[in-house]
Amino acid sequence: MAPYLLIFFLFTNIASSLLSEEEPVAIVFRFQQYLNTTSSFLSEKETVAIISRFQQYLQIDTAHPNPNYSLSTAFILSLAQAIGLESETLEFVEGKPVVILKWPGKKTHLSSILLSSHTDIVPSENQKWVHPPLSAHIDHNGDIYARGSQDMKCVGLQYLEAIKRLKINGFEPVRTVYLSFVPDEEIGGKDGTGALVNSKNFEEMNVGVVLDEGVASPDENYRVSYGERSLWWLVIKAVGSPGHGSKLYDKSAMENLQKSLESVWSFRASQFDLVKSGLKKEWEVISVNPVFLKAGMPSPTGFVMNVQPSEAEAGFDIRVPPHADSTSLERRIEEEWAPASRNMTFQFKDKFPTVDKFGNPAFTATDASNSWWTLFEEAVKKAHGNLAEPEIFLGGSDARYFRERNLPVIAFSPISNTPILHHHHNEFLNKEEYLKGIKVYESIIKTFASFDEPIKEGE
Ligand SMILES: *[C@@H]1O[C@H](CO)[C@@H](O)[C@H](O)[C@H]1NC(C)=O
Ligand SMILES: *[C@@H]1O[C@H](CO)[C@@H](O)[C@H](O)[C@H]1NC(C)=O
Ligand SMILES: *[C@@H]1O[C@H](CO)[C@@H](O)[C@H](O)[C@H]1NC(C)=O
Ligand SMILES: [Zn+2]
Repeated sequence: MAPYLLIFFLFTNIASSLLSEEEPVAIVFRFQQYLNTTSSFLSEKETVAIISRFQQYLQIDTAHPNPNYSLSTAFILSLAQAIGLESETLEFVEGKPVVILKWPGKKTHLSSILLSSHTDIVPSENQKWVHPPLSAHIDHNGDIYARGSQDMKCVGLQYLEAIKRLKINGFEPVRTVYLSFVPDEEIGGKDGTGALVNSKNFEEMNVGVVLDEGVASPDENYRVSYGERSLWWLVIKAVGSPGHGSKLYDKSAMENLQKSLESVWSFRASQFDLVKSGLKKEWEVISVNPVFLKAGMPSPTGFVMNVQPSEAEAGFDIRVPPHADSTSLERRIEEEWAPASRNMTFQFKDKFPTVDKFGNPAFTATDASNSWWTLFEEAVKKAHGNLAEPEIFLGGSDARYFRERNLPVIAFSPISNTPILHHHHNEFLNKEEYLKGIKVYESIIKTFASFDEPIKEGE
């Protein structure tokens, strides 16, 4: 900001304070705050407008099981229009709009940058929140309470606010920048990003790098992930001869299942021990957790107590890191957890590959071999952000659809000094943290969109 503008700003700021009969102390405080914080890159009026837009987005009820995607789509499209971005709404599945915004770059032969975000949120137990989850209430600390304030309506709008500011400042991208606002990430993303990546539209976008959501960080270092563990939902089933409850005999379904459970528990313990002893991080091991056990013959009061059942089942949530030996895990399932020799069968309710479609472990390089990574580190530093050691996420997100196609994905949300409240009660994000994040994205988008060197073959 030019010095005379600064003075004008201070003058109007103080004048408006005087008009509102604020105490002089308050004026000085606001002056200091102005010098200190984000207000030094945004006027107070802009700040108010930015926060109000964020609140409006948070107030749209896109919670499962009935997300109102027409409202979120209309909202995003109206912002895109105001900023001057091209837009297209794709409906691969009826009622599940994927909104694509485009900021064309000067060199169309270069691969593009995709800023991905999901519009849906998980449901909330309203009565357990201090402020209602769709209120976007701002408390005296500037904490904005809402479902989606961290996961991840913040990021979606920060992309847009950053682009708006870059445009105002006359920046022109060399590479095309796309934004995707997708539905259904919280329920697997099949009809959102899953459908998008398999479409002709996506091919035409010629995406070279993707930014997608991360998680908040309780300390000052932004967390960033370069991969995630793949989800395997396994159900194993044992059969055996039924029999009277009073009789001892071998090879009942319960016994067959029980042998598998012992084997699963000992494998689980071996992995957990590596974490407990500090040899491995939690995201470096395979986690296996039993989620259901099913057996017994139901009766009006519970279960029939004198029949040994002929079938027994167990379900497991397994998460496999990209570096893990998934072939040997598959063999273990076949030979130890559900061996046919023990009359057992297994089935995956869901299973994502740990490798991309070319057979390489599906993670993004975080060294000099990946120019996007180097540029990302630089850009965050330039915006005075600190990065934590890159990690593998424990859970899954839409990023897997991109990584399956061997696209680099940097999974990152610029949220520091904030408790991790994704899917928890009282999810919030501080106003200043939100504004700071816009600055960070300004830096990243500018750096990425200016990158003029070929990345892919043919560029
Ligand atoms: C401004 O920053 C200084 C030093 O970082 C801090 O002591 C002060 O409390 C801040 N003032 C406001 C109004 O935020
Ligand atoms: C979404 O909200 C609008 C406005 O409240 C309402 O008219 C519409 O019926 C809602 N759509 C769905 C699918 O709930
Ligand atoms: C498997 O089923 C067959 C046929 O019912 C039976 O003869 C055999 O003993 C069973 N084996 C085990 C380990 O349950
Ligand atoms: Zn999310």
